[in-house]
Amino acid sequence: MGFRSLVAGCGAYLPLRVMTNDDLAARLDTSDEWIRQRTGIGERRIAAPGELTSDLAVAAARRALDDAGMSGSDLDLIVLATATPDHTFPATATKVQARLGMTRGAAFDVQAVCSGFIFALAVADNALRLGQARTALVIGAETFSRILDWQDRGTCVLFGDGAGALVLNAAPDAGAGDRGVLATRLHSDGRQHDILYVDGGPSSTGTAGFLRMEGREVFRQAVQHLAEVVDEVLAANGYGAADLDWLVPHQANSRIIDAIGKRLGLPPERIVSTIARHANTSAASIPLALAEAAGDGRIVPGDLVLLEALGGGLSWGAALVRW
Ligand code: ACO
Repeated sequence: MGFRSLVAGCGAYLPLRVMTNDDLAARLDTSDEWIRQRTGIGERRIAAPGELTSDLAVAAARRALDDAGMSGSDLDLIVLATATPDHTFPATATKVQARLGMTRGAAFDVQAVCSGFIFALAVADNALRLGQARTALVIGAETFSRILDWQDRGTCVLFGDGAGALVLNAAPDAGAGDRGVLATRLHSDGRQHDILYVDGGPSSTGTAGFLRMEGREVFRQAVQHLAEVVDEVLAANGYGAADLDWLVPHQANSRIIDAIGKRLGLPPERIVSTIARHANTSAASIPLALAEAAGDGRIVPGDLVLLEALGGGLSWGAALVRW
């Protein structure tokens, strides 16, 4: 008997501190107008001193479990996507596991930077399909504020902190109808390392390092690769863009989001956009957007939802989910 991953709940958490574009303009040569025009970003959240990626992840996970009517002891898998773990090891997922009271199964991290949530979702979905786990928590959680060079106006204005989580339940294929995670597609191209990377790490400098990016080239490749992978994941199940109810993209830049929306022929009101308030929260951006749109009643059971993201590596991917 085959299995399928059904969405059982989702939740998100944002740190309390808001940093506006004007706050940045007060100490950097930038402006609200420049940042809004080039990116769509108006403000971002910044984790408090001592508030760690695992703290954000646990808060989002608790909300997702509440939404699903479940508790940590019901879980047998946690896959946490982050590029900003609490420590080099062990995995941040294991700290989350302990705090949620989950004592069986496995918890580990996945690292694909901004596309991390899609990669984590694919890993969890595959485990559920194979019967390796019954109930999985997929988390995207980041504290990018800790790896930003706050003197570099080309990068530090773009990112924020946050976390989001999705609970998946394995259900027998028969009887699930058309619901659940229908397809995932993952890609990477290691030759593109130098256009988006962090200039530190345990094996290279012994420090955490800072994010470095050639924004223009990332932008160009993002539009090209994302356009290809959304077609690929739709075709996997014989769907076309006209079948979609929602596009929930990684929130890196409103111009990238608009370009993909236009290519799919989707009106703006069918695209979930949180970038104005969250900025780019890397692996957290998709589950943050999902939690917001499911929480306010936009995404309802039965809707066909397309997720897509691109990040450092380069790595990119897409997922098609019948909510
Ligand atoms: N405020 C004011 N001026 C700025 C700022 C700023 N914050 N940042 C850069 N500039 C200046 C530059 O110095 C440059 O000035 P110059 O012409 O005098 O040299 C000018 O603005 C244009 O700079 P560009 O970098 O060419 O600007 P661009 O239009 O490409 O916009 C941006 C930059 C917003 C970064 C854009 O390229 C982008 O969004 N790229 C995609 C980035 C992205 O999606 N990254 C996330 C990937 S996901 C992950 O894994 C992290």
